[in-house]
Amino acid sequence: MTIAARDRLLGLPPSAFSRDDESDDRLFYGTDRMVPHLDAEALGVVASIIGGLITEERPVILDLMASWDSHLGPSTAPARVVGLGLNRRELEANPALDEVVVHDLNAEPALPFADQTFDVVLNTVSIDYLTRPAEVVAEAARVLRPGGLLLVLFSNRFFPEKVVRIWREATTDQRLALVEGYFGSCPILGPTASCEVHGRPRPVDDRYAALGLPSDPVVAVWAERTGGPPGRPVRRPPELEPWFVCDPDELARRKAAVGDTLACPFCGDRLRKWAVPQTPFTEWDEEYLRVCFNDRCPYLLRGWRAMERQGNRGFSYRLMFNPGNRCCLSLPVPSLSALRESIVDE
Ligand SMILES: C[S@@+](CC[C@H](N)C(=O)[O-])C[C@H]1O[C@@H](n2cnc3c(N)ncnc32)[C@H](O)[C@@H]1O
Repeated sequence: MTIAARDRLLGLPPSAFSRDDESDDRLFYGTDRMVPHLDAEALGVVASIIGGLITEERPVILDLMASWDSHLGPSTAPARVVGLGLNRRELEANPALDEVVVHDLNAEPALPFADQTFDVVLNTVSIDYLTRPAEVVAEAARVLRPGGLLLVLFSNRFFPEKVVRIWREATTDQRLALVEGYFGSCPILGPTASCEVHGRPRPVDDRYAALGLPSDPVVAVWAERTGGPPGRPVRRPPELEPWFVCDPDELARRKAAVGDTLACPFCGDRLRKWAVPQTPFTEWDEEYLRVCFNDRCPYLLRGWRAMERQGNRGFSYRLMFNPGNRCCLSLPVPSLSALRESIVDE
């Protein structure tokens, strides 16, 4: 079976990988873009995941679809890093790279490297631009040594004219399934694993901070090439997501005590007094409610993802306590700045 046939086996028509701008990629990427492609918080997450998953002491790394930053943190001490991308000036400005290769993966998915050259192949916020992704994944696996790591990281930002149509139309879950499908189509890759980080606060000096959106989400998908030596350390991502704060019994106890503690059951922060906006549409009888305004509260953090799964992309919710009926509820928010104008100083 050819690899192109495997792409078809993913069940996707060729139009799924069409783009608004089908001109030569070298034209679009000929313009230098020495810019961060995610906010600084998300880039820190990217570096932590890369650093956590690379267990080799002196790895030889291929950064596929590289630019001016390879996001290698201080815990990674590579023996050698090769960067393959489309813009030579961006690649030459990348201090992590020992070698630069300009190569168009959409024109030619075959990689110009010998079999089993690398310990790690990285692909950061770029897989959405590949028109023949399963072929590129198979090539990445070919150039990995047995037991080597293929790590793809993605987010929800992209150059819209160059992204493939299926990616543009997909939800985060569907994008994850798509990348897992690319990995799964390659018989020399082992089981696929993934992790996600959503909803962290966006740095206040970020160019999009005024929008009140959380930090860009980061999703990582990885697998090892099969046949690695036995007894190697298992690759585990760093613990980045404060998903659960306590066991369910402890959470129930904290919720029952909120009327006395006025502490958020999820993060422990003091709930702020919040004046209910008085409009003809207000459904609460109370003049004041209590709301958690901690932007790092796990309840809010996981809410962005939970709401997206329900079709409400761009929303999360804050923990609200109603002193009238002594119940905790969710208060939906479209941004981190929403609702703050009604906080009452005490
Ligand atoms: C959003 S940037 C990400 C750059 C880098 N990986 C990072 O994390 O900052 C997308 C990169 O993909 C590269 N790229 C896009 N299309 C490509 C193609 N057809 N072949 C090779 N590289 C490509 C571009 O050169 C660009 O640097």
